[in-house]
Amino acid sequence: MRKIGVIGLGYVGLPLAVAFAREGCEVIGVDVDARKIEAIGRGESYIEDVSGEELAEVAAELQVGTRYAPLAGAEAVLICVPTPLSRNREPDLGPLVEAGRSLAGVLRSGQLVVLESTTYPGTTRERLLPLLEESGLSAGRDFHLAYSPERVDPGRTDFTLRTVPKVMGGLTEPCAERAAEVYGIVCDEIVRVSSPEAAELTKLLENVFRSVNIALVNELAMLTDRMGIDVWEVVDAAATKPYGFMRFEPGPGMGGHCMPVDPFYLSWRAREFDMTTEFVELAGKINQQMPYHCVAKAQWALNERGLAVKGARITIVGVSYKPGVGDVRESPALKIISLLRELGAEVIYHDPHVPELPELGLSGTPFEQAIADADLAVIVTAHPGVDHEEIVRRARLVVDLRGVTRSAAEAANVVKL
Ligand SMILES: NC(=O)c1ccc[n+]([C@@H]2O[C@H](COP(=O)([O-])OP(=O)(O)OC[C@H]3O[C@@H](n4cnc5c(N)ncnc54)[C@H](O)[C@@H]3O)[C@@H](O)[C@H]2O)c1
Repeated sequence: MRKIGVIGLGYVGLPLAVAFAREGCEVIGVDVDARKIEAIGRGESYIEDVSGEELAEVAAELQVGTRYAPLAGAEAVLICVPTPLSRNREPDLGPLVEAGRSLAGVLRSGQLVVLESTTYPGTTRERLLPLLEESGLSAGRDFHLAYSPERVDPGRTDFTLRTVPKVMGGLTEPCAERAAEVYGIVCDEIVRVSSPEAAELTKLLENVFRSVNIALVNELAMLTDRMGIDVWEVVDAAATKPYGFMRFEPGPGMGGHCMPVDPFYLSWRAREFDMTTEFVELAGKINQQMPYHCVAKAQWALNERGLAVKGARITIVGVSYKPGVGDVRESPALKIISLLRELGAEVIYHDPHVPELPELGLSGTPFEQAIADADLAVIVTAHPGVDHEEIVRRARLVVDLRGVTRSAAEAANVVKL
């Protein structure tokens, strides 16, 4: 039986571990978070893309723990640890360095190591490789090393790990061949590039592309607001062009673990090459501005009805960073809630995916009550299954930051971004 190791069992690592286990591989999963290990042991998934039933199905194949020693028996070890930003918005490779060091302690000749975490070009060769070579083994000769970015889009069901082409860059040709063979177990198509650096930059290009295009349409939304033009109408119309245009929608800002973080890995690295990545910086700046613009919009909407934000009861509808998931990391809703509170609003929220927001001392309110009690309902994240038309019918005033009430365009109680 083939044996695959996965380090870091989060949004990326757990689905990957389950995918290999479903193909009949024995999977050794390692995470420093003992609560996650215990949860998997109980058959409970903490990731929406992996169900409890799926975990139960692979219980025999998936061995998890906090110790690295069992990884010595794996033919390949895939690293999926976080790559966040430090307080001063610089790459924080702490978890990766820790994982690399721990893995070096158990690394065996003949193994393949693949980094999946999103990071700047050069990380695999300049940071991970020297750590792994502390084992006394030489990369490319005694063990294989490659980089392959994860492209998972949490909550998405139309594209899966199997059907999304997997980009791969090996340290050497045999490294790439070996990695492609291993990933071939769970992915239908492997896209080989010439180096780990090219693969690292591919992932960053994908994310910067989204960030810049979202910023462009967000900037347009702020402009159309002043011009009295409906940005959604303009986006809808532009999207009828069959070529040369790709639809991006404005919104309250970017959230999640990737979009607000990854582009800064590139701009940080660029500085070493005497370059300022202006598009990246500007996109970040505009997207960070959006929660402030949205709060100003809510303030304006209340003002039009002779109400102040201070003392107003405001319901936030949808607090996770994207539809269909419960992940609130970097969610613009958190910023919007804080800003509204600073202005003296009484804020509650409704989100079927997020029962609690401990960092803000809030628990979710059921739909009926959340809408009936509010002076204003602000749609921040449009989850499928939430009846936004019902919100328009029932709420006194609605600010729609996602363009989901377009069919009720003439409703007098709706203000759109
Ligand atoms: N979440 C996404 O949608 C997504 C998509 C593509 C790429 N990525 C990238 O994948 C990487 C992982 O992201 P994630 O969302 O899965 O993060 P996550 O926080 O959900 O999971 C990472 C896991 O690694 C564990 N960990 C931390 N240090 C460790 C160590 N030294 N040894 C073992 N385990 C350790 C953590 O406890 C955590 O469970 C990041 O680089 C991220 O940018 C994420």
